[in-house]
Amino acid sequence: MSHPPLLIESWLPIEAIGAESLRDASAARKPPLNRLHVWWARRPLTVSRAAILGGVLPQWSPDWPVELRQRFPSEDNYRKWFRQFLGILGDPVQGRDLLLQARQAGKIIANPYTYPRAFTINPSAEDLALMQDLLEHTWGTCDLSVLDPFAGGGSIPFEALRYGFTTIANDLNPVAAVILKATLDFPARFGPSLADDIRKWGQRWYELVKPKLQPYFTPLPPGAEGAAYLWARTVACPVTGKPVPLSPNWWLRKGSDPVAVRLIAEPGMDAPQFAIVTGRDVAKAKPDAGTISRGVGRSPWTGQPIDGDYIKAEAQAGRMGQVLYTVAVKVTGGFEFRAPTRQDLEAWRQAEEALARKKTEWIARDIIPTETFPGGNDNRPLIYGMPRWSDFFAPRQLLSIAVFREAQDQVIAEMRLRVQPARAEAIETYLGVMLDKVVIYNNRNCRFDPGRGIRSVFDRHDFAFVSSHAEFDASANLLPWSISQIADAYREIAELVHPSQTALGAPNEPGTADRLSIYQGSASNLVRVPSSSVNCITVDPPYYDNVQYAELSDFFYVWLKRSVGHLFPEFFGDELTNKDDEAVANPARFEAMGSKKKKLAEQDYERKMAAAFREMHRVLRPDGVLTVMFTHKRVEAWDTLATALISAGFAIKASWPVHTESEHSLHQAKKNAAASTILLVCRKREASRQVDKETSTRGPNALSTPSDLVYLSTPSPLVYLSTPSDPVWWEDIQGQVRSVAREKAREYMAQGMRGVDLYISTFGPTLSVISEHWPVLTSEIDPKTGQPKPLRPDTALDLAREEVIRLRKEGLLEGRNVQFDPVTDWYVMAWDAFAAEEFPYDEGRKLAIALGLEMDSYVMTTKRIAAKKGQYVVMQGPAQRRKKGMVDPDLLSFSHWIDALHTAMLVYEEDGPGACDLFLLRTGLKRDATFKAVLQTLLNAIPRTQVKGQFVRPEAAVLDNLRLAFYANELTVPVVEEPELPAAEQLPLAWEAEDDEDEAEEEDA
Ligand SMILES: C[S@@+](CC[C@H](N)C(=O)[O-])C[C@H]1O[C@@H](n2cnc3c(N)ncnc32)[C@H](O)[C@@H]1O
Repeated sequence: MSHPPLLIESWLPIEAIGAESLRDASAARKPPLNRLHVWWARRPLTVSRAAILGGVLPQWSPDWPVELRQRFPSEDNYRKWFRQFLGILGDPVQGRDLLLQARQAGKIIANPYTYPRAFTINPSAEDLALMQDLLEHTWGTCDLSVLDPFAGGGSIPFEALRYGFTTIANDLNPVAAVILKATLDFPARFGPSLADDIRKWGQRWYELVKPKLQPYFTPLPPGAEGAAYLWARTVACPVTGKPVPLSPNWWLRKGSDPVAVRLIAEPGMDAPQFAIVTGRDVAKAKPDAGTISRGVGRSPWTGQPIDGDYIKAEAQAGRMGQVLYTVAVKVTGGFEFRAPTRQDLEAWRQAEEALARKKTEWIARDIIPTETFPGGNDNRPLIYGMPRWSDFFAPRQLLSIAVFREAQDQVIAEMRLRVQPARAEAIETYLGVMLDKVVIYNNRNCRFDPGRGIRSVFDRHDFAFVSSHAEFDASANLLPWSISQIADAYREIAELVHPSQTALGAPNEPGTADRLSIYQGSASNLVRVPSSSVNCITVDPPYYDNVQYAELSDFFYVWLKRSVGHLFPEFFGDELTNKDDEAVANPARFEAMGSKKKKLAEQDYERKMAAAFREMHRVLRPDGVLTVMFTHKRVEAWDTLATALISAGFAIKASWPVHTESEHSLHQAKKNAAASTILLVCRKREASRQVDKETSTRGPNALSTPSDLVYLSTPSPLVYLSTPSDPVWWEDIQGQVRSVAREKAREYMAQGMRGVDLYISTFGPTLSVISEHWPVLTSEIDPKTGQPKPLRPDTALDLAREEVIRLRKEGLLEGRNVQFDPVTDWYVMAWDAFAAEEFPYDEGRKLAIALGLEMDSYVMTTKRIAAKKGQYVVMQGPAQRRKKGMVDPDLLSFSHWIDALHTAMLVYEEDGPGACDLFLLRTGLKRDATFKAVLQTLLNAIPRTQVKGQFVRPEAAVLDNLRLAFYANELTVPVVEEPELPAAEQLPLAWEAEDDEDEAEEEDA
């Protein structure tokens, strides 16, 4: 089978893709998929479509048939088309830089994004037809299939569907499976018009619940849209026995028109009272002084601390109460606050009584979730007295949701009489999705945000105890808001999916939905996907313990099971979600193993990922491509992932870092958290391709490595058990690895790639060399087997890193042939690579190894170049490194160049240019060529970001002063291209929204 070279193997417009993704992430109005339902770690749509299209479209070739050559006479021409085919219609990189500069300069500018966001662009019929010609030429067919075995919220299959591919979406989690149905299947089948039905039946639902719930809430004043009741949980004061309201602070609104709560707890009172204060009275009320901080309370009755264990014990004994401290009435443009009234408390009491009357019946009818919270990695619900899923709701919240549930069944019965069954099933699913939105916004874990109102429980990725929570007036805007959120999101999703269908000229039969399969099951056992059948797998797998999807999603599962379980009985057979087969590092599953649980959980994750990759290898066609997305946070991840991929029979061809977070941001100048999505592009290995033919009938988990080799993924992921017939030795391919890394680094540097990105982009080609030659053996003997140990991919990556370091240093020296010493090299290269004061410790350690240095005892302890801070290291400046005999103004000579430079910087800063001049003359450094070269490399390497004319990095300022004082005509600073800022003007709303990074959390969870 031929092997069409694909675009993603040689090029992708990664900067523009990253900038577009960032635009989505920071926009207040999220893509409609995110607004439909919470799912964690959703991938940006632009990265998803780029990975798919790059994985099916060919590289440009001068040998293309004449029709294609006419359309694309040059590679540049083809690449431009590809960018616009991705929906990138302007220069988002420049737009992002302009915004950043404006922010840093404190300026207001016009919206630089004068074109729509990439994901909103549907491919035109003409471009789809062109794509089909390219596919036909490359693959011999334009009917290609795309699989995502870890599909989650569905970004990848959504884009696959929009471009007309046969799409297979799989996820183990039943909640994700329902989201996939609602995101992909129904919009493709029913199109935008279903939004009206969703809204209509949603409204009918609200008509039914409104009169039932109104008696339990104080009527709203004229013009109000809704209300939030703000509650503090209480425990009895251990000394007085009076209720202590727990709240981290008493703020209601900050800013120029502040509002806060004054807590009144005077000796003669039995219970606290609350007053609303505004203006100058706010400061007197001391709203920052809350009654709970880091789990420890403070009694307003005695002023004494209340032990955290006491609070937990009270909660577990069922003695934690709650007290209403404010009612926030929603009016146009914000909230008006008032103290609670007797009427509020009476309405609440009646709700409690109503719940008590109905609860037994509702439990019997399975209206409310009584499943116990199963325990896991976050046991705070148990610790704070919420042993059942229904305990996440205060009595009136539970009453309201149960009333919603009952009425939901009623509205469904009405609808079923009027709407055709398939359409009714879809509407019913969205009513279930609405209920999910209601439950996450109306429970005891919802905070009130003084700036933005009620936040969902999944504002964070955990079940943190919330001491003061907000409750919606469930008779007012809760359901209408949820209805409009879901109907709007649905319509927008359908508008994005639907045009592709028409563009492909087949609006109904066979329609888009017929090209789609959604499966719920493990990625390691894709039973319904035939062997060697898929052209392109694009996958964004879970990443170690980043998110415990199953544990979190139980919050939804218990409600979805009740609202839509009958529609999808195959998804909802279990009490709760499946944690055992989930491919995450889940230490809670290994609780019994004590201190080993973390390690065992990681091994379990690695084993499951290896099994999933083996299954991907089975279903992928011999000429197909697999692109794995992952977020690079830990260096070892490369080793694990590469090991799993290689063991599964893949060769790694390329790696692309796509920045989903601005690397120039102020935050980044301080800390390099390397928040990029890495695309790892893989092919089946030649050897395994042969084996594949033999094993294709052997079932889903057949091993696809050569039969004389067995790799076990646990306890150590690569255990070599028998000698391969024709092994390749590591020593024999080291030269090739070096030259590939060097050649690729040169190529990428010429394309403008810098820093960590440059290192990462050489990893793919490096891994390609070793995976093509696999199995590669080292001369080290494994004592357990007596056989040579297989190579760890890490070792090859270290070699690649060395090559990049060498090249970068040459670049920083601007062609001069100068040798520093390894310590100075480490300092220079760390600034060059990470461009930040803080970066992951592991990265620093790897850099030290590549330079032959010991990180802990030497770089950090002896030389004090960096200091450890958790999992990070922090670069140390001249003052922090001051030490007799090292950074010491009294010395005449220095053992490392960086010590000399730091001492000069110290003298300059502390005693001024005159003293520094004398120091440089006395030590002979002033005219020393190497000293000047060190200064020049650091002028080039340390970021020169400025805010309002000041350097963000103090080092950059001192180095610049040294240069200007003594070397103004000899040394240079890098020229930063500054795009011209458009004229200042009033912020348009859209701009404001796009740039509001905080909003990113709203529905992104
Ligand atoms: C990183 S998320 C995917 C997010 C997705 N790309 C999106 O944009 O929403 C990984 C997914 O893998 C799923 N998952 C975990 N273990 C699995 C397994 N063994 N088989 C299939 N899916 C699994 C999780 O439920 C989660 O949805």
